[in-house]
Amino acid sequence: FRTLDEADLAGKRALVRVDFNVPMEGGRVTDDTRLRAALPTIEKLRKGGAKVVLLAHFDRPKGKRVPEMSLQPVVEPLARLVGAPVAFADDCIGDAAKAAIDALPPRGVVLLENVRYHAGEEKNDPEFAKALAAGGDLYVNDAFSAAHRAHASTEGLARLLPAYAGEQMRRELEALEMALGSPKRPVMGIVGGAKVSTKLDLLNNLVGKLQYLAIGGGMANTFRYAQGYEIGGSLCEKEMADTARQILDKAKAAGCHIILPTDAVVAEQLASDAATRTVELSEPGAMGPQDKIFDVGPKTLAQILDAISEAATLVWNGPLGVFEVQPFDRATVEAAQHAARLAKSGKLVAVAGGGDTVAALNAAGVSGDFTFVSTAGGAFLEWMEGKTLPGVAALSK
Ligand code: 3PG
Repeated sequence: FRTLDEADLAGKRALVRVDFNVPMEGGRVTDDTRLRAALPTIEKLRKGGAKVVLLAHFDRPKGKRVPEMSLQPVVEPLARLVGAPVAFADDCIGDAAKAAIDALPPRGVVLLENVRYHAGEEKNDPEFAKALAAGGDLYVNDAFSAAHRAHASTEGLARLLPAYAGEQMRRELEALEMALGSPKRPVMGIVGGAKVSTKLDLLNNLVGKLQYLAIGGGMANTFRYAQGYEIGGSLCEKEMADTARQILDKAKAAGCHIILPTDAVVAEQLASDAATRTVELSEPGAMGPQDKIFDVGPKTLAQILDAISEAATLVWNGPLGVFEVQPFDRATVEAAQHAARLAKSGKLVAVAGGGDTVAALNAAGVSGDFTFVSTAGGAFLEWMEGKTLPGVAALSK
């Protein structure tokens, strides 16, 4: 794909797809990570003399003008970060968009209203894409985190205008290439989260590529259940037991060493004042019927830390325990801190992504020391599943 270094920018209108699908409460942006992520591209375009026309979606209005899903609340925090005025057009196509774009001063910035207010966006309707394309001379996709969607603004536009990868897109793709494309070995994965069923493709893809894979979170219970362990009242997808066994067989055949919990931190309720115990999962009767696993235990954690020390590359998706509730954040926090220390000293390439994962790393205060933390949720998962992301593929053509 082409990067902005190859673009002729002076005097051009750059139509830039960003991902401003940010956490919002009561009409206020509560986490501006994704706004910050767009700054290098906006800066580069302005420096090159382009006008910047920002396209984005917010939430899932399904083709209707849902007022609570307006992008208007993004304007002010964005303008503060850019350090220049940001205009707003209350439609992304038609007269309103045209008027706002025409009124831009040189190097000016405008944000257009939610592209998903139009049904043509998600349908990737060529007519809608054409209407969007009217607002720009070139197209820049800087929304890696929306690149798993084949929508008009993420895919269709790349066929209508000269298309470039933005700076955030480029950084994301470089990091992912470093983590799984052509990584330094040994490569370790940490995969957590509640359910095996949501991460089947991911696990199946990873066991063929990694030397170590630590499985934590609720999904580890399903694996242990599948192996005949007692897991008490823990979260478990019993119907996935066969699938879990197949994944373990596949890992064995591929030479991927799986780390599953041998001990666990359990409690009867998920509360920070609940009485907790550490149990050996192989010990018959150790888990009472009311006991629920909320974190991996210290022995398992030590194994995970050792594997991280051995690894040259780490790719992380999903917390090891219920990190939102102390003390069940311990394994996640300690593993994250260990990885961050090694990454900071240059001994480990550590890449993480996926909504919960980023929140967990932020809670551990280590995001800044990771080699790369993706801004993507679903797109990161699909990429880890080995899938082609339509938004990325469209740029490569
Ligand atoms: C995200 O927040 O992961 C992206 O913006 C994609 O949003 P979507 O799942 O609504 O397509």
